[in-house]
Amino acid sequence: MIEFFPALPYVELSESKPSVCQVDGMSVLLALDLQGQVHAFENNCPHADKPLQAGRWTAATLEILCPFHKAVFDVGNGGQVKSGPACVPIQVFATEVRDYQGQRFVFVGLDNSD
Ligand code: FES
Repeated sequence: MIEFFPALPYVELSESKPSVCQVDGMSVLLALDLQGQVHAFENNCPHADKPLQAGRWTAATLEILCPFHKAVFDVGNGGQVKSGPACVPIQVFATEVRDYQGQRFVFVGLDNSD
């Protein structure tokens, strides 16, 4: 079952770089596409366990480029590796935008069915 957690106000998100937040103890990145839709994915590159937060986000193609060894992940396609050296995908998460504490707020869904 997916449980949604409040993450960040929508107004803090950008098309040009990912924003970092903590969701139930996990570091998650949020970024907008060119239509203003929110995308959420883990702030960790599985190649060498490094944070992705300083990576280049491309809103037009929904790709995040790891700043360390330049792996590219396709956030719009389940976090699949588009180019190496990483060989396993990153986790992507469901999002919802809701009214919360008087503002538009992004919620991130985590699967707690384990
Ligand atoms: S840590 Fe991301 S490609 Fe190496």
